[in-house]
Amino acid sequence: MNEKVEKAKDHFAKLVEEQLERVERMKKGADWTDYSKLKPIIIGLVGGDGIGPFITKHAQAILEFLLKDEVDSGAVEFRVIEGLTIENRAKVMKAIPDDVLVEIKKCHVLLKGPTTTPRKGDKWPNIESANVTMRRELDLFANVRPVKVPELGIDWMFFRENTEGAYVLGSRGINISEDLSIDFKVITKQGSDRIIRLAFDYAAKNNINRVSVVTKANVVKATDGRFLAMAEEIAKEYPQVKWDDWYIDIATAKLIDPARQSDFKVFVAPNLYGDIITDEAAQIQGGVGTAGSANIGKKYSMFEAIHGSAPRMVEEGRAQFADPSSIIKAAALLLNHIGFVDKAKQLEMALDICATYEKKVVLTGRDTGATGEEYAKYIMDTLQDPELKNKFEKLSKI
Ligand code: IPM
Ligand code: MG
Repeated sequence: MNEKVEKAKDHFAKLVEEQLERVERMKKGADWTDYSKLKPIIIGLVGGDGIGPFITKHAQAILEFLLKDEVDSGAVEFRVIEGLTIENRAKVMKAIPDDVLVEIKKCHVLLKGPTTTPRKGDKWPNIESANVTMRRELDLFANVRPVKVPELGIDWMFFRENTEGAYVLGSRGINISEDLSIDFKVITKQGSDRIIRLAFDYAAKNNINRVSVVTKANVVKATDGRFLAMAEEIAKEYPQVKWDDWYIDIATAKLIDPARQSDFKVFVAPNLYGDIITDEAAQIQGGVGTAGSANIGKKYSMFEAIHGSAPRMVEEGRAQFADPSSIIKAAALLLNHIGFVDKAKQLEMALDICATYEKKVVLTGRDTGATGEEYAKYIMDTLQDPELKNKFEKLSKI
C-alpha cells in the first residue's frame, strides 16, 4: 500500500514542478508574430494520415492558386512536411517524431490534415495525440472555431482553451492499482487569462455584446472555479461587453434550443468542454466535416480540419470520396490570420456558394457522390469566376 502511495506522490510532485515551470514560461510571454514583417512567410503543409493527405492536397492547390503572386515574389513559401503519419509515429513511439517537429518549428504557420489518435485496444501503441502534442509544443493556446447557420440566425465563435484543462496531462494520469486510476486537470491563471482575454477582445472589436463562459464550476471547484473567477475579473475590463456564465450541461442543451440558439455569440471554455460543444455546434452546421479550426499561439499558428483521419475510409478504398471542405475552410482561416483578408473572404464566399447555396456537386463519402477532387475543382472554378462576389451577394440574399 505504502509503496503505491509513495510512487503516486513522486509522480504528482514531478507534474506539479513541470506545471509551475510552464507557468513561469507563460509569465515571460512572447510577443505576437507580426506576419507583415516576415519575408517569406513560411507555410508548412502537413498531410497527416488516413484521409489527411487526400484532402490536404486539395487545400494546398487552392492556397497555391490564391498565393501565386506572393510565391513568385518571394513573400510566401510553401513547405510540405512529411512523416506525421501514424505508421511513422508508432515506429519511433512519439506523438510527433523529433525530425518532424524540427521541420514544423521552422515554419511560421501550418495547415494540418487529421492525424490518427491511438486509443487503448486498437492496433497502434497508445501514444499521445499528435494534435495535443503540437498544441502544447507550439503553445497554441487558443482553439478558435466559427460556426454559422444563417437560416437559424446562428453566428457563433468559440474560443476553446487548447493547452491545459483535461488535456495537458491527459497521457500522464496514474493507474495506482488494479482498482484505482487518477487523471489530472490543470487550470492556470495565465492560461485562463490569455484565452478569456482573446474572447473578450474579439467581442469588443467586432461590436458583439455577448460572451458566454462555459464551465462546471459548481462541481469542479478548483480548476473550473478558477477559470470562472478569472472571467469575472477580465469582464470588468470590458464594460461594453455583456457576459454570462453557463454550466456545460445546460449550455449543451441550449445550443439546440431554437428559442435560444441565436442569442449566443461568443463562447469561451476550458479545453474538454470546448472540445465537446464545438463538435455539437459543427453538427448543427451540417457535420464536423464542415467546420474549420484555428489553433492560435503568439508565435506559431496551426489550422486544421476539425474531423478525424477516418482510417476506415482508406481501408475500404473510399479515401478519394472524403470531403475536403473542412481543411479548405481551415485554409481560409489561415489566409485571414496571416493578413490575406480579402483572399480569405473570396475563399469563404466560394465555399458558401458550393456548400450552402448552389450545391452543384454533392459528396456522400462513397461512390454514390462526387470525389474530393471533383468537389475541390468545383470550389476552384467558383473561386476563379470573375462574378464571384456578385454571385455570392445575390445568393446569400435569397
Ligand atoms: C479536436 C479533436 C482532438 C481534440 C483529438 C483528435 C485529440 O477532437 O481537435 O477537437 O480532442 O482536441
Ligand atoms: Mg474534438
